[in-house]
Amino acid sequence: MSEDTLTVTDNRTGETFELEITDGTVKAMDFRQMKENEDDFGLMTYDPAFTNTASCRSAITYIDGEAGILQHRGIPIEQLCEQSSFLEVAFLLIYGELPTQPQLERWIWDVTHHTFLHEDIKQHLQGFRYDAHPMGMLLAGVGALSTFYPEAKALDDHEERYMAAIRMLAKMPTLAAFSYRHNRGLPYNYPDNDLNYTENFLSMMFKATELKYEPDPRLAKALDVLFILHADHEQNCSTNAVRAVGSSQVDPYSAIAAGVAALYGPLHGGANEAVLRMLRRIESVENIPDFLKGVKNREEKLMGFGHRVYKNYDPRARIIKKHVDEVLEATEYNPLVEIATELEKQALDDEFFTERKLYPNVDFYSGLIYEALEIPTEMFTVIFAIPRTAGWVAQWLEMIDDGEQKIARPRQIYTGGREVDYTPMSDRPSEPEKITNDQLRRPIRSRRGA
Ligand code: CMC
Repeated sequence: MSEDTLTVTDNRTGETFELEITDGTVKAMDFRQMKENEDDFGLMTYDPAFTNTASCRSAITYIDGEAGILQHRGIPIEQLCEQSSFLEVAFLLIYGELPTQPQLERWIWDVTHHTFLHEDIKQHLQGFRYDAHPMGMLLAGVGALSTFYPEAKALDDHEERYMAAIRMLAKMPTLAAFSYRHNRGLPYNYPDNDLNYTENFLSMMFKATELKYEPDPRLAKALDVLFILHADHEQNCSTNAVRAVGSSQVDPYSAIAAGVAALYGPLHGGANEAVLRMLRRIESVENIPDFLKGVKNREEKLMGFGHRVYKNYDPRARIIKKHVDEVLEATEYNPLVEIATELEKQALDDEFFTERKLYPNVDFYSGLIYEALEIPTEMFTVIFAIPRTAGWVAQWLEMIDDGEQKIARPRQIYTGGREVDYTPMSDRPSEPEKITNDQLRRPIRSRRGA
């Protein structure tokens, strides 16, 4: 018997099966042959939230959560942060190897020269309410891009793929900055091709009346490192959304809009926003013990702590922590930083957190950097979406070229009724049996009006 197999005995029938083990996994479909009788559908595996299911093969990002290792195409994140730039890392993720000098120059030139948005997209954004959440605007903006570049539907056309990758990387900062300016009631700033990727983003965000915006190089560098750290993170919630939606062979803009939507959630990209709200609520260092007591009583979560895969220190958090100090030097004193530092210290000294292997994740610190840059909290997730676009594009491209992939369509365990007869209204009870009217009642008209 081969050593790379798993022997399974189905105790319902006494039958024994030998399943192949490949790359540390068994195929879920191999269980289908295990049937109680001829009519049986066959055994399925049950894995809500995919906690122990590999959904694809991928050569983009390697994570060892126990050891706290993160590598892109094999290169450690520490080396990339020290020696590379975000746009070079984007090329690495998408094409699988570091670019040559001419390739890098062409890549940067192409991204730089596609940063403008069609004026109609600008008008589309201008149609949002003045206080619209910028992430909702970004989501709509990315979805709208698909209507401006319908040629991107030609998934097999390599030129179109290249252009979609370039356009998405180029236009995401512009969409993000426009949504910020809209929220503030400020005129939108157009891109400046003389600036690099992060400098241009800062210019589109903060340029006021000056003819030329001159970003602080320390801030532009810290943002570039943050972008590298957020570029990809294997099969996280939003990447899984991009792959799942993309598996229907929809155009890449629509698939990536799904990623933006997933990132919006507080358990994913919204976490750094939640960290800042939490720090503001704590208010002062003296309130930390009470706050932690509440977390331990499960009244709330310590946002920015814990990770599905890192059950050790998040390596991204270690790198970013160094840059927090540099950014603070270049910006004004912020009392929230003091609260964050003390909160981290007390949590790491507490058995509740150490026993559960809950350590700060990257979002614990990224929020602090954005706060120091005076970026409003609603923008945090929007900024996360800019670099993550590189990962989404890379993962989408890998998925559409993967012969093993089909349209994503999980199974379910059906728990509802069967063969229930329709009851005419005249025969139904006057009082509801399960759903109370309270559950159905719509909230009183929102304070914000219609
Ligand atoms: N505060 C308090 N308790 C926590 C926390 C937290 N932040 N995270 C996990 N726990 C507890 C949890 O209650 C459970 O305890 P017990 O075993 O006693 O029931 C135990 O730790 C294991 O947690 P889990 O919920 O099984 O872990 P998970 O892998 O399902 O969740 C997580 C991972 C990131 C959703 C979760 O840790 C969390 O909600 N953290 C706060 C939100 C956050 O910072 N998210 C950003 C993630 S990093 C950005 C990214 O890569 O997307």
